[in-house]
Amino acid sequence: MTAPTASLRRCVCPGSYDPVTHGHLDVVHRATELFDEVVVAVLTNPAKPGLFTPAERIDLLEASLDGAPRVRIAEVSGALLVDFCRAVEAVAVVKGLRSGTDFAYELPMALMNRHLTGLETVFLPGDPRLEHVSSSLVKEVAGLGGDVTGLVPDVVRDRLLDRLAERRGERGA
Ligand code: PNS
Repeated sequence: MTAPTASLRRCVCPGSYDPVTHGHLDVVHRATELFDEVVVAVLTNPAKPGLFTPAERIDLLEASLDGAPRVRIAEVSGALLVDFCRAVEAVAVVKGLRSGTDFAYELPMALMNRHLTGLETVFLPGDPRLEHVSSSLVKEVAGLGGDVTGLVPDVVRDRLLDRLAERRGERGA
């Protein structure tokens, strides 16, 4: 009898990441403790361009993850998450939950993904210190002159301030 081959357990952390926050990074780093490899999937909806392009979101993720071992980043456009997970042979999706509101938003997607291909979702409780941190609130606060230091990596904060200034026509694109 041949010994069973140890198979690599891979998960996918999907999201818009427009832009990545410390909340996202906490979930990705914790997922690496549970799985052999983590694929951070940047899912984009062409109908919702967002503040950063997919390439910019990936750049910011790369800068923020700073070569974290066993983590790779991929862009997914015009495809179901379950099909991407099948293509990369991921055994689960990992998502963070900050609140009951997040759970209400995530549960139908988790159930739909399980319905479609049997893909399981693992929910990690968000770090309570980051409960108030979301990409949309970070963009809103920064856009109205608030300080988002500590909510996103400094490289993201600086790029966000540049982008918002560009949008207001204060700096060259
Ligand atoms: O960061 P977000 O915007 O909350 O992430 C939501 C996302 C991108 C993970 C979700 O919308 C998604 O999985 N989109 C991919 C298309 C898909 O598979 N849709 C069916 C989900 S049940």
